Amino acid sequence: MNARYDFGRNWSGLAEGFEEEHLSQACADLRRLVGNLSGKTFLDIGCGSGLHSAAALRLGAASVTALDYDLGCVETTRAVLSKFAPNAEWSVGPGDVLASASLPSGAFDIVYSWGVLHHTGDMWTAIRNAAGFVGQGGKYAIAIYLKTPLCGLWTVEKRLYSSYRWLRPPVKALFVSAYLSARALRHRDAISFMKNYRARRGMEFLADVDDWLGGYPYQSTTAGELEAFVEKLGFRTGKRFNVNAGLGLFGTGCGEWCFERNDLSLSHSDLATGKASTGQAVGES
Ligand SMILES: C[S@@+](CC[C@H](N)C(=O)[O-])C[C@H]1O[C@@H](n2cnc3c(N)ncnc32)[C@H](O)[C@@H]1O
Repeated sequence: MNARYDFGRNWSGLAEGFEEEHLSQACADLRRLVGNLSGKTFLDIGCGSGLHSAAALRLGAASVTALDYDLGCVETTRAVLSKFAPNAEWSVGPGDVLASASLPSGAFDIVYSWGVLHHTGDMWTAIRNAAGFVGQGGKYAIAIYLKTPLCGLWTVEKRLYSSYRWLRPPVKALFVSAYLSARALRHRDAISFMKNYRARRGMEFLADVDDWLGGYPYQSTTAGELEAFVEKLGFRTGKRFNVNAGLGLFGTGCGEWCFERNDLSLSHSDLATGKASTGQAVGES
């Protein structure tokens, strides 16, 4: 049973349809979390569709380095960057945040890894490795699933959805109807919600549903646990969004953080090898 979800497959068609409207929503979303990107070097770990790499360039980043485990995502990101930023300085290639040999060298002003590190199978190592790329005075922007009582159920569902392709259409149809009905019951207009969905990070509703249902491996944490872990790596907690969002409509959801590096003495290799003053890392047994 191959339980790893194929994110790239989900997005290959989607990226062809990206328009300026998607990009400008992604720009607004990125600016909200990260702030000023002008002249900054930007590393996008788990770039997915590449839309936020393109947004970083649109917002004035000096360069973008994008990587993803999934070759489909690498191809899609290349196509998206060629479309939206043909003359900018960017590179994209395969990379696994858990395998240092596959990763670029050096440090970046902004390391962005949205909704990625909890899908690696070793979230705490992934968080530490990615943090190791943040240069002096830099920012570390991540989104991570929050722990809820339903996480166990979601883990089983995601594993099955990833493993058995024939299960996907019926489960997706069931989820979409339940999701939209639940929204309608809460006095919200389900149809306009779907139509306006791209206002959330520039993505499309049905593609995101696939990611929610299939994103496996899957781990989660609490805000306190995550913040303690990253702060021990030499960061302070800056902006944070949705960290107390509760269960969401179906008992799952991501918190977003923009950590700021405050310990100028730590090098990437110190962080990557865990020499930072972490002691027993939170979340590790
Ligand atoms: C939910 S998607 C998020 C994509 C993108 N960051 C975004 O915000 O739309 C998760 C992404 O993480 C990538 N990924 C999973 N494991 C990874 C790993 N070990 N190293 C790098 N990327 C990984 C997946 O291929 C996928 O593109």
